[in-house]
Amino acid sequence: MDTSLLSKRVKVMPESATLQMAQMARDLKEQGKDVINMSLGEPDFGTPEDIKDAAKKALDDGYTKYTPVPGLPLLREAIVNKLKRDNNLDYNINQIVVTNGAKQAIANVCLAMLDPGDEVVLFAPYWVSYDSIIKIADGVPVEVYAGIEQDFKVNARQLRDAITDKTKLILFSSPSNPTGSVYTYEEYEELAKVLKDFPNVHIISDEIYEYINFSANHTSLASFDFLKDRVIIINGMSKGFAMTGWRIGYMAANEAIAKSCVKIQGQFTSAANSISQVAAAYALDHGIYPEMSEKFNARRKVFIKLLKEIPGFKVNEPLGAFYLFPDISYYFGKSNGVDTITDSVSFAEILLKNALVATVPGKPFGAPDCLRFSYATSIEIIEEAASRVKTCLKEFNIKKL
Ligand SMILES: Cc1ncc(COP(=O)(O)O)c(C=O)c1O
Repeated sequence: MDTSLLSKRVKVMPESATLQMAQMARDLKEQGKDVINMSLGEPDFGTPEDIKDAAKKALDDGYTKYTPVPGLPLLREAIVNKLKRDNNLDYNINQIVVTNGAKQAIANVCLAMLDPGDEVVLFAPYWVSYDSIIKIADGVPVEVYAGIEQDFKVNARQLRDAITDKTKLILFSSPSNPTGSVYTYEEYEELAKVLKDFPNVHIISDEIYEYINFSANHTSLASFDFLKDRVIIINGMSKGFAMTGWRIGYMAANEAIAKSCVKIQGQFTSAANSISQVAAAYALDHGIYPEMSEKFNARRKVFIKLLKEIPGFKVNEPLGAFYLFPDISYYFGKSNGVDTITDSVSFAEILLKNALVATVPGKPFGAPDCLRFSYATSIEIIEEAASRVKTCLKEFNIKKL
């Protein structure tokens, strides 16, 4: 086919960096190489048995038909109850929309709210899909970068400086993908004070890693009363319940936004999978599965220690999700005599080729000096990966270009 016939929209869209690295890792594996894959953004655990049983029962109970576009009332009620129980937030079921993964919820909101040229303040480093979703919706991402020295968290001054007359939305995640950083109540308070001065700006708060949070608590920006009506909470089952393949996300927003998202979703995909919805309602009613989070925390501690031992790596201590995002720029321009590391992309490629460890370069996350490691794998594998990376980089430490 003549690919010039494809839309401009798709031509400018980058391939997903995460999926690209995962594919390269799979190709090497197929060649018989012992690749350690730290590029993936999903828990290594299977879905808990009781949630699977709830899905089996849903099938037997006949949940095989289209559901209402915003989701089954029983699931939306479970979400309302969860928001009250875990976040002390009051919503009614008309404010809840169940989506095909949290990703669709973000896309719904962007499509519902953005006109061409509208700006979206994007906290960088950001999850790769945010940038593409904003552009598909004809919005203009305006990146605000927070580096490792500020724990990858945007401060009040930076936020104020980024907002213009064209700003329609703010978009960020906490706990964050790719950095694992978690905003504290006090940090949110500062940001909330700024947002008070911009009553037309709405905030997409992606809280999908809520349950993988090793600090004492999770705060939502929606808990500031004067902001609640302008905050769109995004959440879902993929990360905290190890349900990536079930494709259930949800959003909580004011009724006008929720209704407009239902309108969009009704034309694109209709409702999410009926069986998954019933299982999700069961899981949310059951509450957190702390075993997973405890395991992630143990792995996190080990991996932070090991990465800190690698010369040239700048490593912070994030309190959420299952990623570490070291600054690896020390190695730019260094060679082992065969390969030269020029940027985060070549760094990731060389690590994959020479150490057989798959990671994701920071560039597509808006952080060209960093590299994302996912530690959603066993401690044994984490130790092996860190040892391979260290050995591989030793050669680059000695010989300069
Ligand atoms: C920050 C963030 N938001 C949303 C998603 C999408 O999750 P879902 O599987 O529910 O579409 C991901 C998945 O990687 C993510 O990291």
